[in-house]
Amino acid sequence: MAEGGAAVPLSELQLRWHVFWVRRKSDTKTRYLMEIARCVARAVEASSPLLEIGTRSGGSALLMLRIARAALGPGAKPPLVITVDPYGARPYEGEPHVYDERHYRRMKRALAGYANHIHYMMDSELFLNVLGQLHLWIGGRKQPIDRFALVYLDGSHEPDIVWREITELLPRVVRGGFLIVDDTDWFDGAVRRRLDGAASQLPGRLRHTDQQSIVEVL
Ligand SMILES: C[S@@+](CC[C@H](N)C(=O)[O-])C[C@H]1O[C@@H](n2cnc3c(N)ncnc32)[C@H](O)[C@@H]1O
Repeated sequence: MAEGGAAVPLSELQLRWHVFWVRRKSDTKTRYLMEIARCVARAVEASSPLLEIGTRSGGSALLMLRIARAALGPGAKPPLVITVDPYGARPYEGEPHVYDERHYRRMKRALAGYANHIHYMMDSELFLNVLGQLHLWIGGRKQPIDRFALVYLDGSHEPDIVWREITELLPRVVRGGFLIVDDTDWFDGAVRRRLDGAASQLPGRLRHTDQQSIVEVL
């Protein structure tokens, strides 16, 4: 799935500017959006699609789209940004939040200007079940959706669901790419502890912020 090209390094100030623009559309705090922005700016050169599980009103996806566009510069074809979210007021484990058609409408409005955005209206369980059978038509060619430059997990935070997302998606992240898992402090840090336990077998470097866990694939 070759897209993109050589990335233009973006300064911290430029990244902050993009975060400022999306901040109101996201429930993720500025410093964590900055972590995502830095990873996207570095990963985008890998030319593979970016994937977000859990999209809400589209704030973090908009950040990924904006940074990808800015990092590749005018004229370059930005990579696909694929989002997965069932909406439909799916019960949210651990919190009483409701994500429904109001969020879906806001997401569609926020991301409408980006032809390189694709949304799958499904939960991650179904997405992972069918991922091996999905393909896209790009430039007249049928292509599998098999590798990602960056995977951002911010859907369900139920540990077994997140762990399945990690174990099935991390092997698909290309070298130089990132897997970011949000809210790993939830459920008593269960996912964080599992990641720490598996650290020696991970295909890259693992670090944690106080809310996220990030694997940089080497
Ligand atoms: C915390 S919000 C995402 C916030 C968004 N990433 C941002 O920063 O703007 C969580 C989203 O995950 C979605 N969600 C819940 N369970 C999910 C699952 N199993 N698979 C995919 N998405 C899920 C919800 O519908 C909700 O929109």
